Amino acid sequence: MVQGTCLAESGNDVVCIDKVVDKIEGLKRGRLPIYEPGLGEQVHRNQRDGRLKFTTDLAEGIAEAEIVFIAVGTPQADDGGADLSGVWAVGRQVAESLSSPKIIVVKSTVPVGTNAELARRMAEVSKFPVDVASNPEFLKEGAAIEDFNKPDRVVVGVRRPEVADRLHALYAPFLRTDRPFLVMSPESAEMTKYVANCLLATKISFINEMANLCEAYGADVNEVRRGIGHDQRIGFHFLHPGVGYGGSCFPKDIRAVIHMARSKGLQARMMESVDEVNEAQKDVLFRKIEAYFERTLPERTIAIWGLAFKPRTDDIREAPALVLIDTLLKAGVELRVHDPEALANVREIYGDRLTYCDRPYGALEQADALVIATEWNEFRNPDFEVMLRLLRHPVIFDGRNVFEPARVTALGFAYHGIGRAATAVASATRPG
Ligand SMILES: NC(=O)c1ccc[n+]([C@@H]2O[C@H](COP(=O)([O-])OP(=O)(O)OC[C@H]3O[C@@H](n4cnc5c(N)ncnc54)[C@H](O)[C@@H]3O)[C@@H](O)[C@H]2O)c1
Repeated sequence: MVQGTCLAESGNDVVCIDKVVDKIEGLKRGRLPIYEPGLGEQVHRNQRDGRLKFTTDLAEGIAEAEIVFIAVGTPQADDGGADLSGVWAVGRQVAESLSSPKIIVVKSTVPVGTNAELARRMAEVSKFPVDVASNPEFLKEGAAIEDFNKPDRVVVGVRRPEVADRLHALYAPFLRTDRPFLVMSPESAEMTKYVANCLLATKISFINEMANLCEAYGADVNEVRRGIGHDQRIGFHFLHPGVGYGGSCFPKDIRAVIHMARSKGLQARMMESVDEVNEAQKDVLFRKIEAYFERTLPERTIAIWGLAFKPRTDDIREAPALVLIDTLLKAGVELRVHDPEALANVREIYGDRLTYCDRPYGALEQADALVIATEWNEFRNPDFEVMLRLLRHPVIFDGRNVFEPARVTALGFAYHGIGRAATAVASATRPG
């Protein structure tokens, strides 16, 4: 969606193809299948101006194309590796449908060697020569349009320099601020994407592990962050403790790398630990809630703010909030949940087992505690007086360290963050 739309926005004619009829029919009528800030407006404008079209007919969709991007999902397979069935299926269909030579670009995140294998498979079927190039995607959900328009870098993996030149021309409008266009082998490009995600996920698991240590020893991880971040070798980016990473990329990509290592008789020990630390971190809030309410937990009603795996998206794939919901439901807790964009997706999974609240304050009515699982901006400065009136117990479990402990405790809340000592008020208001 983002790739197609942004390329149309820069003047190209783009056809987006998907096999899911509902998605394409919805898009033809202007209904987007995902929430992404700024995307709707650009889709509608480019659709109206005839540069952006949608179809389920692959042969028709690629007929006029010079470049075909493959951006299908590559989810985790049963063995932990990447499931490439979508890439192979589309590659085959494209090869069978070719009516002229084309450049095929793999946008999906794929294990090293996939481009080479795809080129081999397509050459077996196609009557025309094809170039297969790798062009990994680095955008962030929630800021995808911005990231596409101002990428830190564009990476392409090619076998022939002419292919890199064509792709450079396509991306030139987005590289005007001297952002680098990096040309390398398809293998290196494929690996670049995984290495980037491995390092980012490592930073998250690292700071989460340190946060848990801070908490155990009475240090505050936010102060420690300030203490380390000014060191230019370390910096502040991606070192926010929380309830673990989720989403459609980090979990599966880290496991794909573990699987890639095993396939070569190696062991990706650090990545195994990163995954393990992350799984344990998803349980941290539950353990705090359980310790707080003790045996009275099953009688409680808890409000959760934020369900998407991160703010500014409706994506709930592998969202830590869902793990918390499952555990709390199992413990017999009633849940009142709110998210600015993800409620419909969550309702599809849980049906009438949760109470869905359109407004954040609605979720607090008759609740014994508030849990923050995703740090949407609108949660940062709420009306604490209203919250105190609505909650049965003024206790906050802040899974994203959104609030300042001193501020909320002064107002009368008990506060439990990540990597910060629980506040003294907590024991004063602890329910019997
Ligand atoms: N979502 C992100 O932020 C992000 C960022 C970087 C890289 N990636 C990578 O991009 C790829 C796609 O991710 P996504 O989040 O957009 O996945 P997605 O599952 O949301 O979208 C993939 C689309 O491909 C369609 N599809 C699957 N098989 C098909 C087929 N045979 N023919 C036609 N259409 C088919 C699906 O119907 C779906 O609409 C993945 O490899 C992912 O790792 C995603």
